[in-house]
Amino acid sequence: MSGENILQVTNVCKTFGGIQALLNVTFAVQRGEVFGIMGPNGSGKTTLINCITGFTKMDSGKVLYKGKEISHKPPHQIANLGVTRTFQIMRPYYSLPTYKNLVIPLFSPRARRTGGWRGGGKLGDRETVSIDILEEIGFERDSFVPYKLASALPTGYLKRLELARCLALRPDVILCDEVFSGLSMSEIASMVPLIEKLQMDGITLIMVEHRLRELFRVASRVMVLNFGQKLTEGIPEKVMQDERVREAYLGSEKASDYI
Ligand SMILES: Nc1ncnc2c1ncn2[C@@H]1O[C@H](COP(=O)(O)OP(=O)(O)OP(=O)(O)O)[C@@H](O)[C@H]1O
Ligand SMILES: [Mg+2]
Repeated sequence: MSGENILQVTNVCKTFGGIQALLNVTFAVQRGEVFGIMGPNGSGKTTLINCITGFTKMDSGKVLYKGKEISHKPPHQIANLGVTRTFQIMRPYYSLPTYKNLVIPLFSPRARRTGGWRGGGKLGDRETVSIDILEEIGFERDSFVPYKLASALPTGYLKRLELARCLALRPDVILCDEVFSGLSMSEIASMVPLIEKLQMDGITLIMVEHRLRELFRVASRVMVLNFGQKLTEGIPEKVMQDERVREAYLGSEKASDYI
């Protein structure tokens, strides 16, 4: 880790009607880091990802990426700069075969520029690259799974497809909104090394997670949100010793599932 902040988020605020979804959230993520964001249901985690990636307009605050301001840019411009995200509620093109879900991002300017797409413009070549990326993220190359309609994929593969759509852009940063949720223990066991591989490939990961045991295996630091505000931040062991964090989670019905 170089120590350089790749993402600096300062005083982000967002209200929905009378609901204060985010209040003065400030944090920084270093290049190459896996940074975790945790917090009870409704604490603002997805809203924060939406604000950083341009899917939700923040009321105030600032986001710097590699020292340059990206706040208030639209999602496609932010993605084009190398900051991509997965969705908590997965959003594939369900009526397309799985690999064709990747052909579309491979047409993007960033994919052409960064080498996510290296071919000479023929659709068939993009299809090969799609299969390559799917294999990279754990689809068996010689199976029929990449050719299935996305609507027929089980959750484990859909989560991988979300990551694959990010990878097609050869991103510098991926914000993951609960990539472990809904997965069986064995699916999670195979997802953890994938996250580690993405980090080794130089990608910075920001992971919103409820699956804390798995999050703590990959994240060097975590931030806790509660009612839209940052409660604390630090290495997982320290954060979990914080009485306020325990209280925030114990207020939730699912506390026993998390800790
Ligand atoms: N589009 C919206 N319109 C109105 N309220 C919203 C909207 N999006 C989020 N909220 C509210 O903002 C708060 C934060 O929601 P958010 O989805 O960011 O929480 P979360 O931490 O991601 O929760 P979860 O762990 O359940 O995914 C909640 O009170 C939610 O109801
Ligand atoms: Mg959420």
